Amino acid sequence: MKRVLTYGTFDLLHHGHIRLLKRAKALGDYLVVAVSTDEFNAGKGKTSYHDYETRKEILESIRFVDEVIPESSWEQKLDDVKGHGIDIVVMGDDWADSDRFDYLEEYCELVFLPRTEGVSTSEIKEDLGGAG
Ligand code: CTP
Repeated sequence: MKRVLTYGTFDLLHHGHIRLLKRAKALGDYLVVAVSTDEFNAGKGKTSYHDYETRKEILESIRFVDEVIPESSWEQKLDDVKGHGIDIVVMGDDWADSDRFDYLEEYCELVFLPRTEGVSTSEIKEDLGGAG
């Protein structure tokens, strides 16, 4: 049984998110998604449209997702990997050039998946900004 873990905000869910989750699940048998809490986002100067509980509820209803846990700090990743018996951590390839997560490779595999082109939550927010 291979257990996969990925991180994100997953606000205003779109097909880029769904494709990422589908490919992440396909790498193993059980997918854990760590979803950023509202407090964690606030610390990054970000506010999501849907609050944590709503984003969690939506993700839990997706068939590729087996479990949702909170992401509330940058430093929790190693504890998540150990605590949830994770074999593979998946990140979007916007992080591929960074050595920030290299330390995890002692404990699990690190996989960077290419993002879906042409869609992001910030773009959707911007596009709809003037609507109505
Ligand atoms: N993702 C993806 N393709 C996209 C958008 C997101 O594969 N077009 C992936 C990200 O790489 C990440 C996960 O989906 O692994 C969650 O991304 P998140 O940051 O929540 O979504 P974005 O749409 O990138 O949001 P924002 O515009 O606020 O950064």
